Amino acid sequence: MIERTSIKSILEGECKEERVTVYGWIRTARSGKNVAFASITDGSTSSTLQVVFDRDKFDITGLATGACIKVTGTIVESPGAEQSSEINADELEIVGPVGDDYPLQKKKHSIEFLRSMPHLRARTNTFGAVFRMSHHLSLAIHRFFDENGFFFIHAPLITVSDAEGAGEAFQVTSMRLDSITLSNGDVDYSKDYFKRQAFLTVSAQLEAEPLALAMGKVYTFGPTFRADPSDTRFHTAEFWMIEPEMAFFDLDDDISLIEDFIKYTASYLFEKCPEEISFFSRFYEKQLKERYSMLIESKFTRITYTDAFELLAKNSDRFEAAPEWGSDISTEYERFLTDEHFGCPVFVTDYPAIIKPFYMRMNDDGKTVACTDLLFPQVGEIVGGSQREERLNVLRTRANECGIDSEDYSWYFDLRKWGSAPHSGFGLGFERLLMYLTGMENIRDVIPFPRSKGKMI
Ligand code: 4AD
Ligand code: MG
Repeated sequence: MIERTSIKSILEGECKEERVTVYGWIRTARSGKNVAFASITDGSTSSTLQVVFDRDKFDITGLATGACIKVTGTIVESPGAEQSSEINADELEIVGPVGDDYPLQKKKHSIEFLRSMPHLRARTNTFGAVFRMSHHLSLAIHRFFDENGFFFIHAPLITVSDAEGAGEAFQVTSMRLDSITLSNGDVDYSKDYFKRQAFLTVSAQLEAEPLALAMGKVYTFGPTFRADPSDTRFHTAEFWMIEPEMAFFDLDDDISLIEDFIKYTASYLFEKCPEEISFFSRFYEKQLKERYSMLIESKFTRITYTDAFELLAKNSDRFEAAPEWGSDISTEYERFLTDEHFGCPVFVTDYPAIIKPFYMRMNDDGKTVACTDLLFPQVGEIVGGSQREERLNVLRTRANECGIDSEDYSWYFDLRKWGSAPHSGFGLGFERLLMYLTGMENIRDVIPFPRSKGKMI
C-alpha cells in the first residue's frame, strides 16, 4: 500500500494528522537564500500545495517543473495569502525526475502547442479544469435521467445501419480488405467476421427505440463515430452522444425535456465547479457566467424552419448565400438567428423532410417533419431530435424514398407492426455542450485524445 495524504484533504482542512506524506508533480519550483519552494499538484484539486525546503538540509537540484516527488513533512499555516496551509518538508524523494527537455516549462503555452501533446496537457491548469468539468457533466447527465425515471442502456457500437443516412460510417472488419476482394473488384463479405458489412455506430437511436417501446423512457450515453467530411472546430470523428428515447412523447414533450435537461446540467456544473468556472471566465470566456445565467434562467426560443427562412430572407443582404427554403441552415444563418436576432438558444422545428433522415415523423403538410435542432449562440447545433414516424405505411414510403434497404431494417418496421406507439427522442453532442460550458473554442480541446479528419495523435 502506498501511504499518502491527498492534497485536497490538506488544503480543505480535512486532514487531521500534522505529519503527512504527499506525492505530486511540481508545477513551479523556486529557491531563495535559505529556503526553496515547490508548488505541487496530485490532481485531487485544482489548487497546488506549497512545500518549503530548508536549503541546508536538502539537495534541491531535482526540484524542477514536471518532476514527481514524494515529500514527508509537517502541515503548517501558510504565511502567504494564496493558500491556507503548506508543508515544511523533512524528507524528499524524487520519484520521477525530469530533464531540461520537459516541454511544459513554467511559461504559458499556446493551446495549439498543447494540442500537439495530449499525453501531457492534462497536467496544465486549463486541461485539468476541462477534464474535471467533463467528469461533473457526465455525472449530471446520469443524475438527471435517473431522477426523471429513465433507464440507462448500452447500445451496440458495431452496427449494420447508417442510421443518419449521411454515408459517414466507418467500416469495421477483422480482415485486410484486399484479401477479401473478388476478382471483379467487389468485396466478398461472407469471408469477413460478421459475414456481412459492418460499421461503427453513428447514432444509438435506432437501437434505443425498441427499448423505449418496452421500458418507456431510456437513454444511451456513449461513443459515436463519424467520418464527418467537415473538419471544423465543432467536428470530431469520435464523440459521445446522449440519446434519450421516450414512448408517449410528441415533439413538444421532446422539446421541453431538452430544455429541462440542459438547464439541469448547467445548474449542476454551476454549483459543483465554481473554481473551474471562475478560471475559464478569467482566461478564456469573459462572458462565461452570463452564459450560465442565460441557460439556467431564460426561456429558449422556438421558431419553425419555414419562419426562420422567412426571417433570413428578409435579411438576405447580410449573407453570402441567399437563403432558400429546402437548404440546410448554414453556419452564417445559425449565427444570425442565435447571436444576432434572438440572443439565446433557439429551437428550430419542422424542417423539410428532404433534408432529414427517414425516421422522422411526417407532418400533415406532407413536406415537413416533426423535428428540432437546438442552436446555441457561438457554438451552433447542440441537439438534433424528433418525433419518430410510428405509422408503418408512412415509414415504409419514406424509407423507400431514402433508399433504405428494408431487409436490414425489418426489425425496425416490426416495432410499427406490433404495438406501435408515438415516441420521440434526441441526440445531444456531449463535447459541444462541454465547449459551451467551459468556453473552450475548439472541440479538440475538450477531449483527452481527440480524433479528427487527418489527425490522430
Ligand atoms: O443531429 P445528429 O446527427 O442526430 C442524430 O444522430 C440523431 N439520431 C439523434 C437522436 O435523435 N437520437 O447528431 C446529434 C448531435 C448533434 O446535434 C451534435 O451536437 C453532435 O451530435 N454531433 C457531433 N459532435 C461532434 N462531432 C461531430 N462530427 C458531430 N456530429 C454530430
Ligand atoms: Mg443534426
